[in-house]
Amino acid sequence: MPSAVMLNGTLCAPEQATISVLDRGFLYGDSVYEVIRTYGGVPFELGRHLQRLDESARRIGMALPCDVATIEAEVWGAHEATRNPESYLRVVCTRGSGEISLDPAVARDPQRIVIAQALNAPPQVVYEEGVRVALVGVRRNLKAAIDPQAKTGNYLNSVLAFGEARRGGFYEAIMLDHRDLVTEGASSNVFAVFGSTLVTPPLEAGILKGVTRTVVTEVASQGGLQVLNLPLTESALLSADEVFITSSIREIVPVVAIGETEIGREPGPIYREVRRLFGAYVKTYIANHYVAPRP
Ligand code: PDD
Repeated sequence: MPSAVMLNGTLCAPEQATISVLDRGFLYGDSVYEVIRTYGGVPFELGRHLQRLDESARRIGMALPCDVATIEAEVWGAHEATRNPESYLRVVCTRGSGEISLDPAVARDPQRIVIAQALNAPPQVVYEEGVRVALVGVRRNLKAAIDPQAKTGNYLNSVLAFGEARRGGFYEAIMLDHRDLVTEGASSNVFAVFGSTLVTPPLEAGILKGVTRTVVTEVASQGGLQVLNLPLTESALLSADEVFITSSIREIVPVVAIGETEIGREPGPIYREVRRLFGAYVKTYIANHYVAPRP
């Protein structure tokens, strides 16, 4: 399945898409990014993703290299260039390069990159049987250090947490903060279910404002379920009736064990209901945003 890269507005084969080793994205993770998937060839919630890209850039005092509408067109263009039915899409904007210095003011020539690859969605068994996740030792970055609400290229916090989980044979890492409160997964948000109430940590917990988290909150609330943003302790999470994680690529994944603690033997009824509501939302979204590919 082919991949395509749009580098500063020019379509190129991935092996020809190169940027300077002096780029600050490479040197410092001084960049912002988004990951989007398509459904029926439509980049899902592209507007919300690009709004978050813009907000991430503002949070680190970086200007996007161009307007959001240009990036939007490039995302569609990169997907169409692959001719794949569905894409994994990654948008990266860096602060650029210059003299090697921490000073952001020396940065010139910001880069923008859209990578489109064939979507590699999780296998069906993940949704049918659920996954085991780990509460890892790596703590989530402090909001006052590198705010997790900015989706920056500086992802070592998540890389280390995920590595710890994978070494233990777990599907995802769940991170606590310095106060022992639950934050989020290495690349997902966390929901705990108590009765028919969904609880997910608030943004103040130091988490990414996940687009899937937002959509799940909206569809669940419209579907008559209560959704609360509340601090979640480790023991509350472990005692939940159901737990699931959300992300753009994995959508909603049921969790059946956290470390050695079982959380229900199989994906629960609230998970199944939220998944149904989410599926219906996606269908409507595609119908409202479909654009026929150019011949
Ligand atoms: N990551 N939290 C973190 C730390 C994430 O990296 C992600 C997504 C999420 C979920 O956000 P969303 O629902 O907007 O995808 C939460 C993407 C998928 C990634 O970096 O690959």
